[in-house]
Amino acid sequence: MGNKEQFNGSIKSEISDIPSGRLITSRNWLEVGDVMSKDIITISSDQCVFSAAKIMSESHISCIIVIDSENVVGILTETDILKRIAANERSFDKIRVAEIMSSPVECVPRNLSVLEASRVMIRKHIKRLPILEEKQLVGIVTQTDLARTLTSYGMWKNAVDIMSRDVARVQTSTTVAEAAEVMASRNVSCVLALEGNEPKGIFTERDLLRKVVSLQKEPAHLKVEEVMSWPVISIPPDCSAFSAGKTMEKMKVRRLLVMEDKQLYGILTQTDIFMAVKKKLQEQEEENFSMLQRSESNIYTLNLDGKITYVNPAFMKLLEVSDPGELIGKTFLPERFWFNQKDRSQFLKEQKKDSIKAKELTLKTSKGRRIYVTLFSTFTKNIHGEINGSEGILYDITAKKELVTLRKTEQALRESKKRLSEQNARLEQMVQQRTSEIIEIRDVTVFALAKLAESRDPETGQHLERLRTYSQILAEVLREEGPYTNEIDEQFLEDLYRSSPLHDIGKIGIPDTILLKPGQLSVGEFEIMKRHTIIGAEAIECSATQNKSGSFLIMAAEVARSHHERFDGSGYPSGLSGRHISLAARIVALADVYDAITSSRVYKSAFEPRVAKNMIEKEKGKHFDPAVVDAFRAGWEDFVNVRGLVDSHKPELMESAASDDSRR
Ligand SMILES: [Fe+2]
Ligand SMILES: [Fe+2]
Repeated sequence: MGNKEQFNGSIKSEISDIPSGRLITSRNWLEVGDVMSKDIITISSDQCVFSAAKIMSESHISCIIVIDSENVVGILTETDILKRIAANERSFDKIRVAEIMSSPVECVPRNLSVLEASRVMIRKHIKRLPILEEKQLVGIVTQTDLARTLTSYGMWKNAVDIMSRDVARVQTSTTVAEAAEVMASRNVSCVLALEGNEPKGIFTERDLLRKVVSLQKEPAHLKVEEVMSWPVISIPPDCSAFSAGKTMEKMKVRRLLVMEDKQLYGILTQTDIFMAVKKKLQEQEEENFSMLQRSESNIYTLNLDGKITYVNPAFMKLLEVSDPGELIGKTFLPERFWFNQKDRSQFLKEQKKDSIKAKELTLKTSKGRRIYVTLFSTFTKNIHGEINGSEGILYDITAKKELVTLRKTEQALRESKKRLSEQNARLEQMVQQRTSEIIEIRDVTVFALAKLAESRDPETGQHLERLRTYSQILAEVLREEGPYTNEIDEQFLEDLYRSSPLHDIGKIGIPDTILLKPGQLSVGEFEIMKRHTIIGAEAIECSATQNKSGSFLIMAAEVARSHHERFDGSGYPSGLSGRHISLAARIVALADVYDAITSSRVYKSAFEPRVAKNMIEKEKGKHFDPAVVDAFRAGWEDFVNVRGLVDSHKPELMESAASDDSRR
């Protein structure tokens, strides 16, 4: 049992030595070298048969090897001699060994497995195999040796199932010569000697050799009872083949009678056990091999040099190989199956060190497809515990690995998208910030320019700031209460806020003598003064065409040109009327006049807002757009709050001076 366990479970290849073409067995078979007998007795072919028989009898061996010039030329067995006795040959001292020996001799190498050696014996109908190593005779293995060994692998059949039922029988009184004839004619190595029906002994080839031939007795004059072996050893029919084998070994016999209650069932020979064991083991062997072939695990085996000795179909399928010849006999694994040659060198180094390993590898199939595998490998050992190779399995983890890679890529992509979106948001924020900075700088610049123009007239104070606010109040009321709801949107309000301070930018082109003159302007001077509308509009229009970004510049040009136009067409520079005057200019016109009336000048004091209001209202439909005047009324409280003047000034000057166009 212990042996059985020891031999099962590991895989060993016999590819190179097995003529049957089988690649692999399921067990670690003993080799014939392990069980052979090294005590070989040889004889030269020119010796006489008698000498050979004597040596065999004295040495308790059943055959002798015939050697000439160190070469094995034949083998002489008990059976060869038996056949001569049966043929009535008597003078063994005159017959040469060469004449009756079996030749040629079937020899085998010492590393052949015992199962394969038994196949050879059965195929060739022989019971002995000389073992050669480098052409030298090193031992001999007999059927007895193999039967003993194979039985130890496990053989649980009963004697009755495997015994020979056809037993050659003779009476004890039969002559040896007659018994030999029976044995030779029936091709058996023994006869059962009976007295009546009762078995008394067994007469075997060995008895013939030892007790007749080697003693030079006359077979024809000798009775079987004088030379037979007795008492006979019997076993019951249900005795196991294993026990029967042990009994034979212990009793030093090669045959057992199978008997129960004096009934003879048959005779069990060593050959019977040998054949039965071999048959059963071969069946198991084939079954195991078939299991390997059918297995879905990717299995391989290597010899001690790391060369591949077996791959199963699943393994070939994994590497997309159709011919096992692409792998067998090559180092595990050939270069073309590796994705990275450095991995291969590393693997070959490690492989020699560890007995058991699990390792992840990146391989390539014969078609170049990348595969990921986990390799599990273990050393295999022979019966003596010596490492004789390794075996292993590859697990295909490609799908799992690709999924992991896919997940990683997806994750990286998500992260990269997130980073990109964050970066975009930051950039957008920067652009917005920068844009508003630019707009702010532009507004400040434009306003600074307007202030610069205005600064030549030191008395105007915060005129631009107030005018801008008045304009916003008017536009907002007009948007909310009509009638210009559709024309005034957020952009209009923004443009108006920026453009209104530029209404008098053209005064830069008016000489100081006119601009700063205290008192009334002459008609000629006034004509020059009027030109500030055209100068300003043209200067702004010039900028507007060069700079597409400022829609307010277009409005600013309109305001600069038309803020002195009157609704009834009596204004300058073009005498436009009604809605021909741009809405922004109509709004700024009122804001400008109102601030002028409520501001003090070198030539006038400031009017009280209420007075200013009356003055404006009187100009409804004349100087000012009636809708803008209505808005002015509606936004009156806001107007007053702008300056913080709530009836704090007394009316001092004439109303006509307040609306003096020449000074705005
Ligand atoms: Fe003006
Ligand atoms: Fe003004």
